[in-house]
Amino acid sequence: MGNNHIVEAASKAPGWQIDGPALSSPLLLLGVTLQTMTIKPDLSSAVGHTPLLRLRRASELTGCEVLGKAEFLNPGGSIKDRTALGLILDAEKKGLLRPGGTIVEGTAGNTGIGMALIGASRGYRTVIFMPDTQSREKIDALRVAGAEIRLVPAAPFKDPRHYVHIARAYCESLNEQAPDSAWFGNQFDNTANRDWHEVTTGVEIWEQTGGKVDGFVCSAGTGGTLAGVGRALKSRKARVTIALSDPTGSALANYINRGELVAEGGSISEGIGSSRITANFQDAPIDMAWSIPDQESIPLLHELLHDEGWCVGGSSGVNLAGVIRLAKALGPGHTIVTVLADAGTRYQAKLFNPPFLREKGIPVPEWLQQSFGG
Ligand SMILES: Cc1ncc(COP(=O)(O)O)c(C=O)c1O
Repeated sequence: MGNNHIVEAASKAPGWQIDGPALSSPLLLLGVTLQTMTIKPDLSSAVGHTPLLRLRRASELTGCEVLGKAEFLNPGGSIKDRTALGLILDAEKKGLLRPGGTIVEGTAGNTGIGMALIGASRGYRTVIFMPDTQSREKIDALRVAGAEIRLVPAAPFKDPRHYVHIARAYCESLNEQAPDSAWFGNQFDNTANRDWHEVTTGVEIWEQTGGKVDGFVCSAGTGGTLAGVGRALKSRKARVTIALSDPTGSALANYINRGELVAEGGSISEGIGSSRITANFQDAPIDMAWSIPDQESIPLLHELLHDEGWCVGGSSGVNLAGVIRLAKALGPGHTIVTVLADAGTRYQAKLFNPPFLREKGIPVPEWLQQSFGG
């Protein structure tokens, strides 16, 4: 066969295997199959089971095995597909979401994308309320996913015009018109979110590291990921360290460190940080917390893209900063895990836009400047 050189090269690449009979089968492309290749019957079953990636630079810098869970590979492009699926399955089980019903949610975008896609595949209509401060790319992705979007001006949570309160009220109005026709996801305070992360994301990390994980760190929006993974790992290994990497402008790190819900500074990251303690975050088993400025996190995501090829979003930059801080705190020889929550392309006009970055006081790497002809 003419493709023997490719087959031979592939057989030497880690993670690939040569399927013997395929060498003589014209039906299988290049005669090569992924070791883990299986058939998924629908979109819901394609959520999760993401690979754990070794982060080379962070590992070399700290002497730890630093690993990133590749959540940007979910069908809707983010970790929030898990949240959406966990909430929807729980609502179906409890009879709160009926066949042909309407999903209503308040979201910074990613959960809405997950809900709209899962909704499409399971026969639901999806209506999303989100603040008008979120990236154009996420709003476009929501439209493409088939969601009906209602953009509302950003307001503090205690204001009845906050997007979550408006979403809840809208859902109630639908149910008044047609009883039991709509369901409000309530990702921030519905602990089915945390529970789903506990039984999926947390268990996957435990199994993928063969129980070797010593520390886990990530940022929190609803807190579902951190609380769920934290509970899963602590219940299996009491001495595992769980840490919060919080963007500046969020009050959560101060709350953990000083018991005060106060925020300082700001951040261009989206979907993370909070000014209140949600039901999902409430009992998260957190040992350490840091407030991370954009000037630290965004250069790390630029480096990850330039040196290792992974293109991740702003919240993952905060997680990269957190994983390096946690690795340094624990010392060499430990296995530390974080999440790469979504892709950088979802924030192209901010994270990879030299004038925008300069305006925010964030360093612009030379290669990025050159890419744009500067
Ligand atoms: C990109 C991104 N990262 C992280 C999070 C936060 O995850 P969690 O809500 O589980 O705390 C979100 C939430 O929207 C997000 O969009």
